[in-house]
Amino acid sequence: MPRPDGPRTGPRHLRGAERLDATPDRDQKIVLRGEKVTLRAVTRDDLPRLLGFANDLEVELAGGDPPVPRTLEGLQKDFEREASDPPRDRTNFVIEADGGCIGTCGLFNIDANARHAELGIGIGDKEYWGRGYGREAVGLLLGYAFRLRNLRRVWLEVHAANGRAIRSYRSCGFVEEGRMREHVWLGGRYVDNVIMGVLREEWEG
Ligand SMILES: CC(C)(COP(=O)(O)OP(=O)(O)OC[C@H]1O[C@@H](n2cnc3c(N)ncnc32)[C@H](O)[C@@H]1OP(=O)(O)O)[C@@H](O)C(=O)NCCC(=O)NCCS
Repeated sequence: MPRPDGPRTGPRHLRGAERLDATPDRDQKIVLRGEKVTLRAVTRDDLPRLLGFANDLEVELAGGDPPVPRTLEGLQKDFEREASDPPRDRTNFVIEADGGCIGTCGLFNIDANARHAELGIGIGDKEYWGRGYGREAVGLLLGYAFRLRNLRRVWLEVHAANGRAIRSYRSCGFVEEGRMREHVWLGGRYVDNVIMGVLREEWEG
């Protein structure tokens, strides 16, 4: 039976991006619905929860970003800046499950000329790790990228110690494209930075 999202499901099958609803209100919000997760716009009300994720050392080290303490005021400023002048090269979503925000994901560095984008995801609620929520969110994002944004390549960076993420991305069709040796400082040691990518035809294949 074809998987609801991901590669080898083919354009004739129902896939993530086809379960896209435009709500009937004037805002016409874009919402991507899967079996377990819904991807929707980030709202101001999400910020306190996102602050908890941003200040969780385990989550930040998994993501590979240098751990920097964040404040609600800082997140609010970022939010206001993006709301008043939405960047054209990125699209962020909240990952919602069981009625709550469990993390964020999105496309950034969108190159409309070469039609590629970088994918980022962070499930901040650790109760939801390793249960297929990431795979489904990434599958929905790929459907959004390839079908709704007409991109042809999606890529990402992940540090080599993040085996769960790499397995999750592989299950969505990503392959390793390159490796920057000892590129990431991970709380006391250097680890490789892995570049992964998936082409639209592979995903559709
Ligand atoms: C990385 C991340 C997005 C992965 O999402 P996840 O939901 O935890 O991972 P998944 O469940 O999709 O995949 C992990 C494993 O579950 C498996 N899996 C996926 N869907 C499954 C399903 N429906 N049933 C059973 N197993 C499944 C995957 O194949 C993978 O294999 P494994 O069993 O050998 O570990 C998430 O863990 C996270 O955000 N972590 C913190 C921040 C981070 O690491 N960000 C990424 C930076 S690059």
